Amino acid sequence: MTGLRTESGPSYAAVLGVGAYRPSRLVPNSEIVDAIDSSDEWIQQRSGIRTRRFATDDETVVSMSVAASQQALEAAGIDVQQVDCVIVATVSHLMQTPSAATAIAHELGADQPAAFDISAACAGFCHGVALANDMVRAGSARYALVIGVERLSDITDPTDRGTAFIFADGAGAVVVGPSETPGIGPVVWGSDGEHYDHIRSRQDWRDVLASDEPQMPHLTMKGNEVFRWASFSMAKVAQQALDRAGVTVDQLDCFIPHQANNRITDAMARSLRLPDSVRIARDIVDAGNTSAASVPMALRRMIDDGDARSGDVALLIAFGAGLAYAAQVVVVP
Ligand SMILES: CC(C)(COP(=O)(O)OP(=O)(O)OC[C@H]1O[C@@H](n2cnc3c(N)ncnc32)[C@H](O)[C@@H]1OP(=O)(O)O)[C@@H](O)C(=O)NCCC(=O)NCCS
Repeated sequence: MTGLRTESGPSYAAVLGVGAYRPSRLVPNSEIVDAIDSSDEWIQQRSGIRTRRFATDDETVVSMSVAASQQALEAAGIDVQQVDCVIVATVSHLMQTPSAATAIAHELGADQPAAFDISAACAGFCHGVALANDMVRAGSARYALVIGVERLSDITDPTDRGTAFIFADGAGAVVVGPSETPGIGPVVWGSDGEHYDHIRSRQDWRDVLASDEPQMPHLTMKGNEVFRWASFSMAKVAQQALDRAGVTVDQLDCFIPHQANNRITDAMARSLRLPDSVRIARDIVDAGNTSAASVPMALRRMIDDGDARSGDVALLIAFGAGLAYAAQVVVVP
């Protein structure tokens, strides 16, 4: 039998540039509370959220992604023509097919790259970074664009006490490409399918259409269960990602967890025994929980605020519906 020729890429890949897009409509807690019999004080205390942003009609999954990607490409100094793979993590692109990635790649003016969406909910962006890292190092893509984007306001029930104050909209993107030094550590990822129903759409589309009064299948969440799972199990996953990358907490500069809830972030930071010197992302305070977009948006915010500097070592971890999770250590571009 003839042996097939195979290819391989550079030894290392890295995040080369980061971008974010924040929708224009600012939504303070005061706009949310009446429909859920809540208060600004309760929401801030239980989640850390003060305001969030909701997309307007013309701020679509595609347009927000294009804006975030353009910023990431510019920061990386990479022309869009050099991108040969676009990976989009989202659960709120409401067109079942084709993928958002193909439209985004086209809008960006990319040269027919591979383009596809992945569904790993809030963990999607870190899954995308892991895929891009492996693709670059295996030689199947030289530059990959990884986007996390959501318009969760479309699929959140404004009268649901457990979710209405949490979820929000936005987009974040990174360019992953070859590097002379290691820039992305090994991924620690997995899924706890036993808890498949802890965060999910209320109904599947066939049930919606069979109903006498079809309604958007909004997200539902077992908040308490998710809170306990995230607070206890995810610190262990984060520690494994540090161990796999050979990084101790003393060598860490930034901790950028999925912006699910400030109390979950606090619990993870305590379990990991992060020293005070580690700067922790708190983008949730005025961005809400933007699911797949939250980690790249928080990273971009930290870069803009001077809290994440080029060469810093950052621990990323994201987790959510599935229950799916992924974590890795990266070097800030
Ligand atoms: C949603 C969440 C903030 C709720 O907080 P909680 O402390 O678990 O709240 P509980 O459901 O136990 O309710 C506690 C009390 O607050 C009340 N309450 C619940 N929702 C409320 C709301 N929106 N406003 C005001 N009060 C509320 C309840 O009625 C209950 O009152 P009681 O003690 O008098 O019975 C919390 O569970 C959470 O953050 N979960 C994880 C969310 C998350 O990260 N999701 C995304 C993962 S990707």
